[in-house]
Amino acid sequence: MIIERYDAGVFDSGVGGLSVVRELLRYDPSQSILYLADQFHVPYGGRPLEEIRLFATGISRFLSANSCDAIVMACNVSSATALSIVQKEFTKKPVVGMIDGVSAKVANSGLQRIGVLATHGTVLSEAYPKIITANKPSLDIYQVACPAFVPLVESGVLEGREVESIVAEYLHPLARKRCEAIILGCTHYPFLLPAIEKVARDLFSSTPVIFDPAESVRAQLTVLRDPAAVRYNEGRLLFLTTGDPSILKYQLSLFLGKGDWKVGAAEWRGDILRRVAETVANPRA
Ligand code: DGL
Repeated sequence: MIIERYDAGVFDSGVGGLSVVRELLRYDPSQSILYLADQFHVPYGGRPLEEIRLFATGISRFLSANSCDAIVMACNVSSATALSIVQKEFTKKPVVGMIDGVSAKVANSGLQRIGVLATHGTVLSEAYPKIITANKPSLDIYQVACPAFVPLVESGVLEGREVESIVAEYLHPLARKRCEAIILGCTHYPFLLPAIEKVARDLFSSTPVIFDPAESVRAQLTVLRDPAAVRYNEGRLLFLTTGDPSILKYQLSLFLGKGDWKVGAAEWRGDILRRVAETVANPRA
């Protein structure tokens, strides 16, 4: 009998965390991942931090109960508000967030003026400025909240004039401060990278280095994971959403490429997340 067990449980408010899944699979395509998109509640970024904390702890409990050997908060605002709480609850498994790894990397990069693009919640939490300056106090950090980005990515609008003018609006303050680095402080934003790079080339006198925290998350997970652990269900991927599974199925083909994506549903009962029994295979695969 094959036990339904996963190397990692990965979650986000929506499709943003797929930028982290993409990085994990690029490094090791054989790992098994259970992904949870809380699309019933997307976007998280404008919600009270206390509410986001409840969602993040509820989802982490769900992933742990569904036999995930590690938990990846592929969501910056969840990491900013709930990482230490969840780490304290699950002391026996790796729980990795988006912010610590990339903050240390940026602090050691030799770059001085650092821009952070993020959601309102992450900006409000001050997690990036606090963690970066804890690594290196002398750095200058400039944050910009980008509320229009998540709705664009969730609806699959990743390029074009409208996208570029929104990107320009958010990059202007960082260009004025002559930022040398930009952290993509929301997992949805890497899907807008071509537009961000294009606009940055026009706006900045010297092109900034762009940091996607996914790479540091992947590296942290590799270090924390027990190399001797038994691997179950090699390459098994299951994507659950609290929204509409048929929409998620379409989004998966957009963000991870065409494939036989296995999709299913989960639903909230109060603060508790439950799996809805049936899963839907991709009929187009
Ligand atoms: N992708 C998430 C993050 O990294 C949340 C975005 C949102 O739902 O506002 O912060």
